[in-house]
Order: sequence, then C-alpha cells, then structure tokens
Amino acid sequence: MVGVQERGGKVGYFITLEGPDGGGKSTQLKMLVPKLRERGVQVVTLGEPGGTALGRAIRRLVLDPGCVICPQAEVLLYAASRAQAVYEVVLPSLREGKVVVLERFLDSSLAYQAAGLGIPAREVLDANRLATGGLEPDLTILIDIDPARARRERLRGTRDRIEGRDEEYQRRVREGFLEVARKHPGRVRVVDGSLPVAEVERIVWHLVEESLRRAGVLRDEK
Ligand SMILES: Nc1ncnc2c1ncn2[C@@H]1O[C@H](COP(=O)(O)OP(=O)(O)OP(=O)(O)O)[C@@H](O)[C@H]1O
Ligand SMILES: [Mg+2]
Repeated sequence: MVGVQERGGKVGYFITLEGPDGGGKSTQLKMLVPKLRERGVQVVTLGEPGGTALGRAIRRLVLDPGCVICPQAEVLLYAASRAQAVYEVVLPSLREGKVVVLERFLDSSLAYQAAGLGIPAREVLDANRLATGGLEPDLTILIDIDPARARRERLRGTRDRIEGRDEEYQRRVREGFLEVARKHPGRVRVVDGSLPVAEVERIVWHLVEESLRRAGVLRDEK
C-alpha cells in the first residue's frame, strides 16, 4: 500500500464513498466538499467511472444497455478507468497534500464484479493491481442500503446496463460491500443510508473529521 508518507512528503488523504446504487453517495459528496473547503482543506473529487476524459468514454460504454460486455471485459474496463483516474488525478493530488474524495473505487469492483457477477475476488484484485499501483483509500465510507428499497423509493427513470440487473444481483452486490467492510474494519466505516439525509450527513462528517484530525490534515479550531 502507498502510505501517506510515501506520497512525497506532504500529507494528502484519500477518502472513498462506496455502496449500492441510490444509497446517497453523490448526495453526501456534494455536502461534504464545501464543509471541507470551509475549513481550508484543499479537496479534489471525482466519480468513477468517469472523472477523466477516458473515464467518461468508458463510462458511456459500460453503462450502455445496448453494449454486450462479458464479465472479464467489464472488470478490465473499470480497471482502465480507475488507472487513468489514479495516475491523472488521485496520485498527483495526494502528492500535493490534497484530500481526494472519490465516489466508488476498487471496493465497487469487488462488490459488482466479484460478488455480483461471480468472478473470483483474487482475479478482480489482480486485474486492478496495475490500475491502482497498490494505492488504497485511507478511509472508506460505505453507505449501506437495501437495494430493493433504494430502487423502490429513490431510483426512477431508465436503468443503465448495471442497474438493469435483477434484484438477486443487487443483493449480492450489497453483501459484497458488507464483506469488504468486515475484512477491512480499520479502513471501512459503514453508515446506514436509509436514515434521513441530514442524519447521514452528520455521521459522515463525524467520521471524516475524526479521521482527518488523526491524520493531522484538520487541526482544532481556535
Ligand atoms: N438519506 C436519504 N434519504 C432519502 N433519499 C435520499 C437519501 N440520500 C439520497 N437520497 C436520494 O436518493 C437518490 C439517489 O441518491 P444519490 O444519487 O446520492 O445516490 P448514489 O449512491 O450516488 O447512487 P449511484 O450509485 O446511482 O450513483 C437521489 O434522488 C437522492 O436525493
Ligand atoms: Mg452517485
């Protein structure tokens, strides 16, 4: 793992937001960024896949319901988008001491492609080693939600290629995320995404603030 120290002297911090569709990742990201900026923290954010020109082109392909993509190719397309994000944005920003917040990272591949599609986790990790260079988030906030509930109450309109998969698939994805959380209790913090937005916001802020203080990125306000 590329630790804070090896990133080039300054202290950057890498946060990811993970979880099933509709849990509230984008909503929380939008609320978190201004709060960090208010405290003088330099923040860089991007969604995945996307965030770079290549990532956006890949995103169009992987989410297009008209595009036939085998599970192995799906893993590699996400990994390619991730590689571009890591080398174009994430690592340079961390080296400059910035806080980088990503919506989705490697844990999403473990959930959607390993747990969801049945590709062995080891193979998904191997395919992603080149993409991430071993970089791991310092903090992952897993916004957990029952996917059936998220679909019923939150996700309307047309479904993309992944959202169009059946309920059983979405259930495996959720379990996949929870399994990652169990394996990495130090890094992954689970938040109940079924709570009201403001309550999730409060919990997310508490977790982020605590972690950034511990890392010396945020200092006590005088
Ligand atoms: N805690 C919440 N309670 C009720 N509705 C919520 C909550 N959080 C988000 N929403 C709503 O649910 C919908 C999906 O939220 P959002 O886009 O933030 O989820 P997401 O996790 O980013 O989804 P995706 O995986 O598709 O990117 C939005 O309409 C949002 O306003
Ligand atoms: Mg989102």
